[in-house]
Amino acid sequence: MKNDPVVAIAGVTGAVGAEFIATMDKRAFRVGKLKALASARSVGKTIDFRGERITIEELNETSFEGIDIALFSAGGGIARTFAPIAVKAGAVVIDNSSAFRMDPNVPLVIPEINADRIGDHKGIIAVPNCSAITALVPLWPIHRVNRIKRVILSTYQAASGAGAAAMRELLDSTRACLDGQTYQPKVLPHFYAFNLFNHDSTVDPATGYNGEETKVMQETRKIFEDDGIAVGVTCVRVPVLRAHSQAITFECENPITEHEVRAILSNAPGVKIVDDRAKNYFPMPIDASGQDDVLVGRIRRDLSDPSGHSISIFAAADQLLKGAALNAIQIAELLH
Ligand SMILES: NC(=O)c1ccc[n+]([C@@H]2O[C@H](COP(=O)([O-])OP(=O)(O)OC[C@H]3O[C@@H](n4cnc5c(N)ncnc54)[C@H](OP(=O)(O)O)[C@@H]3O)[C@@H](O)[C@H]2O)c1
Repeated sequence: MKNDPVVAIAGVTGAVGAEFIATMDKRAFRVGKLKALASARSVGKTIDFRGERITIEELNETSFEGIDIALFSAGGGIARTFAPIAVKAGAVVIDNSSAFRMDPNVPLVIPEINADRIGDHKGIIAVPNCSAITALVPLWPIHRVNRIKRVILSTYQAASGAGAAAMRELLDSTRACLDGQTYQPKVLPHFYAFNLFNHDSTVDPATGYNGEETKVMQETRKIFEDDGIAVGVTCVRVPVLRAHSQAITFECENPITEHEVRAILSNAPGVKIVDDRAKNYFPMPIDASGQDDVLVGRIRRDLSDPSGHSISIFAAADQLLKGAALNAIQIAELLH
């Protein structure tokens, strides 16, 4: 692209959409012109972008004429319908939904891991699942030094991962609870305040895994280009407003010490170590919120593996940023 790209955001009014705008500003991402797209519900509303008031338009078949980069965060169904239309109109689509992630013709990119795959695109580049990104950014530099054979991880996922309406539901249900009122869940399947539950994606009746868990397992193998890595995942929604956390235990091919892991992670791109045993200070979603890095701490030997091949860590990351908008803008920067 010779000139600054003309950029469209499909889903500009959503939780991720708002972070596209903030991240482009923060990183001074050069934009020739911005087109703001959402559903018919948002037509006529405006967003502010670099001193300009931009009127939101309804996403339709003609939205992508003259667009160089189309950032999609409007769900899988919208992506499946409109991403091919955008590509036909000449745009490169960077999609945050799960629609194309496992398509063998679509690169699934975390720039810290496989930026080299961006060049393989045929019009669409997929941003991985946010829980996969949170785990894989710190695991990749370890995997490169000492192959990880097996990972077991459990997530503590925030409301923001389910979008802007779920964040409102956490606030509203908490307020209702404190006021002694009843509250009927509208977005998530269960009462949210002071509770936690299985991730709200569909549970596969055959395997018992929910959709989020399946995505993390499949996407890890695709991104690491390692079909042999064993991954076990439990995904849980917790009453945290923003930023996902994870307890991760991994087993390497060769013995590994916590000292080696700390040394590797202290130089790893996209990782910040937060690991103060004396102060009992470790990664927390409240600290990860608004941060670009994946916070990693509680780095310790897994004592259940006496062979010395296994390490446990705890991570927290802002899944609206590194798990979605930031990862997408990093890809756009590399395209540009
Ligand atoms: N939240 C996260 O942490 C996260 C992380 C990674 C990936 N993602 C993915 O990113 C996507 C968006 O997530 P989100 O959390 O931002 O959701 P959200 O807050 O619910 O926002 C959804 C966006 O999609 C738009 N939209 C809905 N139906 C539409 C239609 N028929 N035509 C055009 N636009 C439509 C909405 O516009 P209106 O306001 O007009 O309805 C809104 O801008 C999803 O695919 C999600 O899986 C989210």
